[in-house]
Amino acid sequence: MAMTSSERLRLIKTAVILGVVFIGIQFIRPELKNPPVTADLQAPPEVKQILKTSCYSCHSNETKLPWFDEVAPAYWIATSDVKEARKHLNFSEIGKLRVAQQKGLLFEAISNIQTGAMPLPSYRRVHPGSRVTLAQMAVLKSWLNPPAPTGAANTSAADAGYERWIQASSVVPDVHPSPNGIEFMPDYRNWKVISCTDRFDNHTMREILGNDIAVKAIAENHINPWPDGTAFAKVAWRQLPDGKGIIRTGAFIQVEFMIRDSDKYASTKGWGWARWRGADLVPYGKDAAFTSECINCHAPVRNSDYVYTLPIGGQQ
Ligand code: HEC
Ligand code: HEC
Repeated sequence: MAMTSSERLRLIKTAVILGVVFIGIQFIRPELKNPPVTADLQAPPEVKQILKTSCYSCHSNETKLPWFDEVAPAYWIATSDVKEARKHLNFSEIGKLRVAQQKGLLFEAISNIQTGAMPLPSYRRVHPGSRVTLAQMAVLKSWLNPPAPTGAANTSAADAGYERWIQASSVVPDVHPSPNGIEFMPDYRNWKVISCTDRFDNHTMREILGNDIAVKAIAENHINPWPDGTAFAKVAWRQLPDGKGIIRTGAFIQVEFMIRDSDKYASTKGWGWARWRGADLVPYGKDAAFTSECINCHAPVRNSDYVYTLPIGGQQ
């Protein structure tokens, strides 16, 4: 089909205008600087390589844009991504943070990769090489979290420990009271599990149990404040991977209690705090002042009566 000459003219005009606009927008360039690298992440080369390939173009001061990102409007998106990304996590400055903060950020980084949130999906589509493979993921994980010891000897020792823990519920062990006078409560093993958490950063598995009063309070939704008589136990075990992808309970680490009595424990926020460590249940703390450690760390949840664990689903 032949075009009329006026149609052809209109097409050429449109093309010229688009071309001029395209060239014009190239001059609108928000500045993107690479500030000096002051405290770069300390990590083995194989780890660094993965992060450099997949994350550094946004999360560092070493941004190198490929040519197609240098062209507006892609350039605008890239610069705003980089600026936003550096605010959240900057590998070139991460060394300034405390070690615990760095570790927290790195865990967040790994879980962002795992959920597919990072690298940004829009970026991954145009930069397929930035996708973190399963093998690379394994490298990152074992760097942050070297595998816990495994092996048959370990496993059977731990099984025996767990077995003893279950059997012992009927035996009252000879355990010294906590320095603030709180007696050990062997019966906690018969309480109800309210929540279960594990922290893959320090290889522990934790179970939070509540006594009958706690369970009733949850059912009736009277949990702020918790009624007098409420008691919680938090038990921690080491994680013991069996080498087949299953994590079992390893050695018993400790059990901690919070016991509610607003008069008796008025000076410690209405809760009695106590902790016993190790298989032989040694009371924790030189003197009663150890409770300030507990309270300080539970203070962020003072609005929920110093209790972290929220019963899932409320009504049980
Ligand atoms: C194309 C740029 C880009 C790349 C590449 C990229 N990110 Fe991000 N990242 C962002 C932006 C933008 C944000 C902030 C906005 C958001 O959370 O979506 C962000 C946020 C984050 C956050 C904070 C999330 C939060 O909820 O606070 C983490 C952690 C993170 N990125 C990790 C990574 C890791 C690890 C990689 C590499 C595997 C990576 N990112 C690659 C752009 C990028
Ligand atoms: C480093 C911070 C920290 C310190 C110190 C701490 N706790 Fe906790 N505690 C927590 C967190 C966080 C939870 C929530 C459960 C979890 O994530 O394991 C918790 C949960 C508990 C629970 C289960 C009820 C609840 O609040 O969820 C008990 C019982 C408990 N802690 C007792 C103690 C005692 C006793 C001490 C002092 C000897 C203590 N804690 C010191 C952080 C701390």
